Amino acid sequence: MIIAILIVVSYLIGSIPSGLIIGKTFYGVDIRQHGSGNLGGTNTFRTLGKKAGFAVTISDILKGTVATLLPMLFALDLDVNPLIFGVFAVIGHMYPIFAGFKGGKAVATSAGILLGHEPLLFLFIILIFFITLYFSKYVSLSSMAAGFAGLIYSLVLWDDKLLIAILALLTIFVVYRHRANIKRIANKTEPKVKWI
Ligand code: G3P
Repeated sequence: MIIAILIVVSYLIGSIPSGLIIGKTFYGVDIRQHGSGNLGGTNTFRTLGKKAGFAVTISDILKGTVATLLPMLFALDLDVNPLIFGVFAVIGHMYPIFAGFKGGKAVATSAGILLGHEPLLFLFIILIFFITLYFSKYVSLSSMAAGFAGLIYSLVLWDDKLLIAILALLTIFVVYRHRANIKRIANKTEPKVKWI
């Protein structure tokens, strides 16, 4: 029963639409009506600038971290891998009940899971993200590269098949949610960032 409750709580945490809340509260802007229309940190940077972009990215990361750490925060000894709760936070982030089921692209919240569970892997994917961004200038491509790098890291360094399967699932989420970006990269219409 407690596992089911934590799954629902994790989904609800993931469903908190940081981009929508910060955009509407502090700027009077619904970021879904601007830029890529995505409810994530990148579109917030693009639409509202650095301060809002960082705030949304950090909030979205923390959703994955908090959900993954729920059993530890409540001192629960559960017979289930806590990454499962992080996965439900990512599902909430992608399909938020509080924002018409139209959410983000799974990147920041997935990274948050790793921050909570394997900080070294978190640092590794951040490094891959920025290296790819430096050379490509595409945030979307860098997000997908970070996802694949995390999966390869887990395949090489981890024995636990469940952990690897979860990393694979998160990478599939990230790629699936970037379908439109992949088409734009192929058409050369994907916007590039100018600040790196
Ligand atoms: O994390 C989302 C990012 O990879 C792409 O966002 O707004 O450019 O579609 P966006």
